[in-house]
Amino acid sequence: MKQEQVLELLKQMTLGEKVGQLIQVLGEDFLRDNVDITTGPLRELNLSNEDLYNVGSILNVVGSENIRKIQDEYLAKNRLKIPLLFMADIINGYKTVLPIPIAQGCSWDTNIVYDCAKLSIEEGKVAGANVNFSPMVDLVRDARWGRVMESIGAEDPYLGEVFAKTIVQAYQGKDELNSKNVAACVKHFAAYGAVEAGRDYNTVDMSEREFRQYYLPAYKSAIDSGAKMIMTSFNTVNGIPSSVNKWLLRDLLRKELGFKGIIISDFSAIEETIAHGVSIDSKDAAYKAITAGVDIDMMSRAYSNNLKNLVKEGKVSEELLDESVLRVLQLKNELGLFENPYGNANAEAEKRILMSKENLNKARKLTADTLVLLKNENNILPLKKCNKIALIGPYADNIGILGSWSIFSEGVKIPTLKETFENKVGKDNILYSKGSEILKEKDINRILLADGKKPIHLENEEENEKKYVKEAIETAKNSDIIILAIGEHYKQSGEACSRANIEIPRIQQNLLNELSKLNKKIVAIVFSGRPLVLKDISEKVNAVLEVWFPGVEGANAITDVIFGDINPSAKLTMSFPQDAGQCPIYYNHYNTGRPQRGDFRFVSRYQDIPTESYYPFGYGLSYSKFIYSDLKISNKKMSKDSKIIVAVKVKNDSNVEGAEVVELYIQDLVASVVRPVRELKAFTKVHLSAFEEKTIEFEITVEMLKFWNEKLEYKAESGKFKIFVGTNSKDTLEEVFEYE
Ligand code: GLC
Repeated sequence: MKQEQVLELLKQMTLGEKVGQLIQVLGEDFLRDNVDITTGPLRELNLSNEDLYNVGSILNVVGSENIRKIQDEYLAKNRLKIPLLFMADIINGYKTVLPIPIAQGCSWDTNIVYDCAKLSIEEGKVAGANVNFSPMVDLVRDARWGRVMESIGAEDPYLGEVFAKTIVQAYQGKDELNSKNVAACVKHFAAYGAVEAGRDYNTVDMSEREFRQYYLPAYKSAIDSGAKMIMTSFNTVNGIPSSVNKWLLRDLLRKELGFKGIIISDFSAIEETIAHGVSIDSKDAAYKAITAGVDIDMMSRAYSNNLKNLVKEGKVSEELLDESVLRVLQLKNELGLFENPYGNANAEAEKRILMSKENLNKARKLTADTLVLLKNENNILPLKKCNKIALIGPYADNIGILGSWSIFSEGVKIPTLKETFENKVGKDNILYSKGSEILKEKDINRILLADGKKPIHLENEEENEKKYVKEAIETAKNSDIIILAIGEHYKQSGEACSRANIEIPRIQQNLLNELSKLNKKIVAIVFSGRPLVLKDISEKVNAVLEVWFPGVEGANAITDVIFGDINPSAKLTMSFPQDAGQCPIYYNHYNTGRPQRGDFRFVSRYQDIPTESYYPFGYGLSYSKFIYSDLKISNKKMSKDSKIIVAVKVKNDSNVEGAEVVELYIQDLVASVVRPVRELKAFTKVHLSAFEEKTIEFEITVEMLKFWNEKLEYKAESGKFKIFVGTNSKDTLEEVFEYE
């Protein structure tokens, strides 16, 4: 439709129809034969049947058959034939589930991140999704928070900016959004990753300077890349919950950042402002949210129960309401839904591409580049194929490796490590033993009960625990090497999965303690949605491969790396702590007035554990051996109109070709506010053949030196700077220069 037709449509709408466009409900109720508004979540919303056929969008129902059924029924009952918008959480894959976002970010490769996002959205769109609740770009520093698994940039603002843009472009295309694309909804605005103590939905409080320096850049990058929607977060920002925060939404988002898209609240977040203690009741919450600028109320009663009255009572102007409604109608129009209400839903395409061989092959290659090799003593990896391998542990023959946002792929058939190892080296060379459960019954039931699921009962749990260990010991005795597949349960990370103890479950540590008495070589494959405390594991094994939750092709990709068909190149985007007590811990910290020096007592340190992380940001090993040398800078001084060319030689001093992520950091040595000991400012992945050496160059510009100062100006200040170039955030070559 033309813009004037959209405006004409708005004029024809009744107040009830306008309010309807600003309401989003779960789609599952539309799937029932007669939509049942008397039970389930819809009952809570007090929606009448008439209301229901005026809601603007539904979430998390897709599948071309469902889309057609729901849309047909809806349009038959919607007076003005305004199509429904279908939104979904296709976070790391629709049917072909890919590695969780934090893993994808560990590729340090925009091509990998783009290809993952593209594969996900191509499947999601033929299933009928019009909007994807992605990318999640929250900066994260606390591994106790379960949602670090979703963060594409994790601990670093620059990675967040780069990958936010990459994903938005993968979903929406690099030009104007059209009907062949899917709209991106960047989330969660804002600073949700900074919840105190890593406890989900907890308070967030920080200076505006800190917020602008670290948390804002990735959201801004998504907006500047054209993201059509943004989701408000559950938390407070400067004492006011995001969904009713005028400064955040009107002054910063709309005015300063120029965001013209739709603002949608997170699930029930508007009414949660009552619990926060800033709204008296649902009506007050609705008033505060619409005046703060939230367009769509996701699954709370605030808008459905109050907006009409607020307008009738003159408390909310119809013009204000119209602004929100128009944004919703415009997005539907940009997506071509008025002409084709089914969007890209296509049953034939679903059959052809969902988990197609082509997509699975792509997934396998993409996944390998997200696996981080953390330890490889005496190059025990890659394995020689002739070994008798004891494959032991609860993840050795387990398909629960898709992560917590695999809601559209439950029940898909995927290979397990046992199968892919056997395919690789023959059944006779793989001696399998379960070794242990992932968790004890009481721990898994705590998770299931919180999910509203029935508890399980592990028959003879104690005896079986001993039996599994005994069998594992016997199996291991007949092997040349032990591959131990361990990790946290996939339901221990994700939303509402904060944990105070972020070690490998005790039951699995007991298994390792017994196996380590055999004095055999052990390789640990670790499945997790977050950085875990791996100290006690790593000290007992010869190699550690962090595989996160690697998705449907995870077992194949892990096998490709373990046996050397693929040389690992991934690097951590989040620090692995020595102990949960260190959290939040991050590489770009301030020096403090008492940085650690030796064992001197009166410095910023812990008495009982080391201060630095166990595995640092940017760290990851390869089967190749990369040597850095000859760091040179083109000039020792630079001004605002000049730049510095940084050159460094990187040699692959091995006979194994491989890829190396070269990282460049800068430290502002003296400034008007404290500045981090180093900040990532550039990176590149270089492919080197055996014994090949390349010179890698970076440009340093004044843009890289800018920061938010005390007056909240974004400027560079003259003075001395340090450059660090290397293989991670610690092992670097250094140079200094002066900015005048
Ligand atoms: C959830 C999550 C958000 C998700 C939304 C819709 O509560 O916080 O990330 O997109 O609800 O499922």
